[in-house]
Amino acid sequence: MELITNVSEYEQLAKQKLPKMIYDYYASGAEDQWTLKENREAFSRILFLPRILLDVSCIDMSTSILGYRISMPIMIAPTALHKMAHPEGELATARAAATAETIMTLSSWSSCSIEEVNSAGSGISFFQFSIYKDRNLVQQLIQSAEKAGHKAIVLTVDAPWLGRREADVKNRFTLPQNVVLKTFEGLDQGKTDKMNGSGLVAYVASQIDRSFSWKDIKGLQTVTSLPVLVKGIITAEDARIAIECGAAGIIMSNHGGRQLDYLPATISCLEEVVREANGRVPVFIDSGFRRGTDVFKTWPWELREYLLVGRCCSPSPSTARPA
Ligand code: GLV
Repeated sequence: MELITNVSEYEQLAKQKLPKMIYDYYASGAEDQWTLKENREAFSRILFLPRILLDVSCIDMSTSILGYRISMPIMIAPTALHKMAHPEGELATARAAATAETIMTLSSWSSCSIEEVNSAGSGISFFQFSIYKDRNLVQQLIQSAEKAGHKAIVLTVDAPWLGRREADVKNRFTLPQNVVLKTFEGLDQGKTDKMNGSGLVAYVASQIDRSFSWKDIKGLQTVTSLPVLVKGIITAEDARIAIECGAAGIIMSNHGGRQLDYLPATISCLEEVVREANGRVPVFIDSGFRRGTDVFKTWPWELREYLLVGRCCSPSPSTARPA
């Protein structure tokens, strides 16, 4: 087998190996998939102009997230249903995160239970969920997450309706026989098997509380002592409100282009959101990242004293540059 050298090649391999319905679920975006493509293209428009002959013999990429030390500024974003791709599902992802000494965010649409995942990886993990109409369910999810030792709650706010992923509609996406929404098992919420067509769309449509709004974010903080990170923000305006409502962090995301189409790439909005946050809370970002150089393109422009990186970093004429 040809050696895999980067994430995009894994995507190609997945296309060969996975059933079309599964591959399409993971890979496709909403409607025209404009945002899905733009998430990649925006990175390709940001270039480096490196300064050379600086001492780079000692590199430390470790950083601290909410007080937890991780080996690099890369974490695993929440994604659904890993068992559709591999029998070990999220257990393998948790082990990989622990080995890489970074944080995994477990999706509430996990195909392994919260408890199983937590015992598989000895690392730090966060737990993602949306607000469901059934507030008892919300409370139970939070309690299970706390009990299992997750260190933060990641609240997804960009999916009151699931994006229209036309590939899923065409494929009549349903969960494969051997895969269940494990987190909801026993809570009588995971019965997607009886649903026609796109089981997940039907599931989400029936469960997510579409009336949930900013005022409810404050309420959430009364039911958990864990920090709440708000995921799905791309504007400075929403970043400001999230911070006012007590968010412990902002996760910039356009849901990998899977929700509302024709949103800009998150990397194009990073500067304004970071300026708004102004160090009050950490800002995380996902959508379109495939390589270390993509990650480097997020680096705080004020710290990139010897690099010019696209618009973010073009120094004004008065900016001092190293001699
Ligand atoms: C779930 O959040 C998905 O994008 O499928």
